[in-house]
Amino acid sequence: MSRLKGRRIVLTGASRGVGRETVRLFTAEGAEIIGVARDAAKLEQLASEFPGFQPLAGDITDRGLGARIASAVTARWGALDLLINNAAIQEYNAGFHAEPVDALERNLTTNVLSAHWLTNALLHLLERGQEPRVINVSSGAGKLAAVRDEANMPAYRLSKLLLNGLTLSYAGDLKGKVAVNSLDPGWLKTDLGGPNAPGEPPDGAVRMLELATKPFSVTGGFWYGAEPIDF
Ligand SMILES: NC(=O)c1ccc[n+]([C@@H]2O[C@H](COP(=O)([O-])OP(=O)(O)OC[C@H]3O[C@@H](n4cnc5c(N)ncnc54)[C@H](OP(=O)(O)O)[C@@H]3O)[C@@H](O)[C@H]2O)c1
Repeated sequence: MSRLKGRRIVLTGASRGVGRETVRLFTAEGAEIIGVARDAAKLEQLASEFPGFQPLAGDITDRGLGARIASAVTARWGALDLLINNAAIQEYNAGFHAEPVDALERNLTTNVLSAHWLTNALLHLLERGQEPRVINVSSGAGKLAAVRDEANMPAYRLSKLLLNGLTLSYAGDLKGKVAVNSLDPGWLKTDLGGPNAPGEPPDGAVRMLELATKPFSVTGGFWYGAEPIDF
């Protein structure tokens, strides 16, 4: 298949989990990818397996990373069609009473601010892209009702709630220029999702593809694959 033929993509969190499966599926669909994560060895392994994949080792909490990625995109393509803010951390616990006080700052920095910094740093390249898009990989854990009704892992939930807010703000600001949407990839057996999850990592990649291939006019939404869901 070639549903992403020639699409120029930056993907964070490429080294494992949903990101790794997205590399597998998206390169099979003809995409070219610059993949970001801290584990350089895992990225090099992906580059040897999947033609079109270019590794870029870095930490998304590093404010300087956006400039490094922009340089790599400029050198390879001169434009960008899709930024996928997929990398994240999760700290599981019973609630704020059981969570280290600095967990919120850590989760907001990794799961929200990094997406803001990268979108900002790559915006000029997206504006030169073809039907350019941003996908912020969020979670059902960050739905308003889940934040209200579920006490556990509060820092993670709040980070995803705010990431959805970032989606709405950027979508409104960039309407007609860059499509910006949030994705819930589903509860999946990854390092983050844990062994009890009902789904497998490739299910998340399929949902990523469903959203990535929506019409360009689709923006400012929260999606479970092709299906719209409530914020
Ligand atoms: N799995 C689920 O059940 C589930 C459910 C809902 C939403 N999600 C969302 O789906 C996305 C992918 O999750 P996953 O399950 O695939 O997680 P995962 O298996 O734990 O993978 C996380 C990825 O993020 C990267 N990462 C984490 N911190 C980073 C940092 N500071 N700098 C650069 N890269 C960093 C990791 O790479 P390195 O360690 O090599 O840096 C890894 O590639 C996340 O946004 C998550 O919140 C997952």
